[in-house]
Amino acid sequence: MKIKGKIALVTGGAKRIGNEIALGLASKGAHVVITYLHSKKEAQVTVKKLKRYGVKAHAIQADQSRAHDVNRVFREVMARFKRLDILVNSAANYLKTPFTELTENDFNRSVDTNLKGPYLYAITFGKEMLKRRSGKIIHIGDWGIFRPYNDYLPYFVSKGGVATLTKALAKALAPFVQVNAILPGPMMLPEGTSARERQAIIRETPLKRIGSPRDIAAAVEFLIEGSDFITGALLPVDGGRSIQ
Ligand SMILES: NC(=O)c1ccc[n+]([C@@H]2O[C@H](COP(=O)([O-])OP(=O)(O)OC[C@H]3O[C@@H](n4cnc5c(N)ncnc54)[C@H](OP(=O)(O)O)[C@@H]3O)[C@@H](O)[C@H]2O)c1
Repeated sequence: MKIKGKIALVTGGAKRIGNEIALGLASKGAHVVITYLHSKKEAQVTVKKLKRYGVKAHAIQADQSRAHDVNRVFREVMARFKRLDILVNSAANYLKTPFTELTENDFNRSVDTNLKGPYLYAITFGKEMLKRRSGKIIHIGDWGIFRPYNDYLPYFVSKGGVATLTKALAKALAPFVQVNAILPGPMMLPEGTSARERQAIIRETPLKRIGSPRDIAAAVEFLIEGSDFITGALLPVDGGRSIQ
């Protein structure tokens, strides 16, 4: 699928990795809708940056853990653009809780945003893509589903679910819509990561560096434009961490 002229939705596109993905797609000629939860200012700045590429751009506030909000995003995208060609589910939370303090609420907060959110977007837009017999859905998962870190149990359960969601959707939407997941390694480390922790991560990464949002955006662009014969794949973009 050529990116130029397509309509793309990038969740969590106001900041960080989602932002790089949105800008990358616009630079290749896609019209881009981003969603944000709290980052209104950053979303407005992003829309201006996206438009500099000569494409249409729009930002929508939406809490993806709520079906009501996802349905509103769907209606707004359809009203403006009549279709969606590319869905990139990037938005997520990353909540740290020691095992002994875990509650039901921790599970709900991770799973509702990180798994139910992508599920809601994928089933809502996937039905529309299926009708038109064309589309690409890309989930941003996490390489750590194979080796979960301590203190992030509900987060990794939610991302493990995203991997299964990817494969199940790929079957349900074949042969018309390709559904894949990218599994980033450490890219943008959480605030408060010490220099020592950073060095330890680099030591444990065969390619000896932290990844960049561009590495993820490039993988998204490849899955859209590089091949239409990949579906149900989980693509680690992790500097080799998963084989270490
Ligand atoms: N950073 C890394 O090193 C790394 C490593 C592995 C995997 N990943 C995955 O890559 C993706 C992007 O990572 P990131 O670090 O750039 O993400 P991030 O900054 O932690 O979060 C991205 C955006 O998600 C949005 N968000 C959170 N909860 C939401 C909700 N309920 N509804 C709608 N939007 C919500 C936030 O929007 P607002 O700012 O508008 O509130 C936030 O800007 C995530 O799926 C993450 O799990 C990242």
